Amino acid sequence: MQVRRVEPADIRGFTGSNWRVFNEGIGWDFAEEKECFAVFKDNRVVGAARCCMRGGLMVLKSIIVNRDFRGQGIGTALLEQVEDSARRKSCPKVVLETSARHKDAIEFYLRRGYQIVATRYEWFFEADWYSLEKPP
Ligand SMILES: CC(C)(COP(=O)(O)OP(=O)(O)OC[C@H]1O[C@@H](n2cnc3c(N)ncnc32)[C@H](O)[C@@H]1OP(=O)(O)O)[C@@H](O)C(=O)NCCC(=O)NCCS
Repeated sequence: MQVRRVEPADIRGFTGSNWRVFNEGIGWDFAEEKECFAVFKDNRVVGAARCCMRGGLMVLKSIIVNRDFRGQGIGTALLEQVEDSARRKSCPKVVLETSARHKDAIEFYLRRGYQIVATRYEWFFEADWYSLEKPP
């Protein structure tokens, strides 16, 4: 497995065109995502994570592994890259948000030491929404 830092453009196709169109349509600039990491197998992206510093905290914006490659440690490797980056910046916390619909992801984060620090109902998505965090 090869995990490395990449440019945002390198993972756009992987993270999905619908998502990109939605975000760019409402004015979110992908160029502001300062750090992206990807795992490659046979020169193909099989997992990616995006993060950025906001208000002195490291925000994990997204992490996704191709369905066929889950359960092989790729998500963990990506999360570790984000945490390493936070440590290098002397950042006190990695923070992220996820919904009750991402049950596997919530278990994944909790087993890696993240704690749920806030819960709210998100009316737009009609789901519980969680804020999680961990010192890196
Ligand atoms: C959450 C996610 C990134 C984890 O990636 P991953 O590469 O499967 O992660 P890992 O292999 O490092 O760890 C997965 C855990 O599930 C277990 N697992 C086993 N088989 C699995 C499978 N087929 N699919 C998923 N997880 C599996 C692993 O053993 C591991 O268990 P552990 O936590 O006790 O160590 C991935 O499931 C994913 O892309 N989910 C969809 C997108 C998503 O929800 N993103 C987060 C939104 S906030």
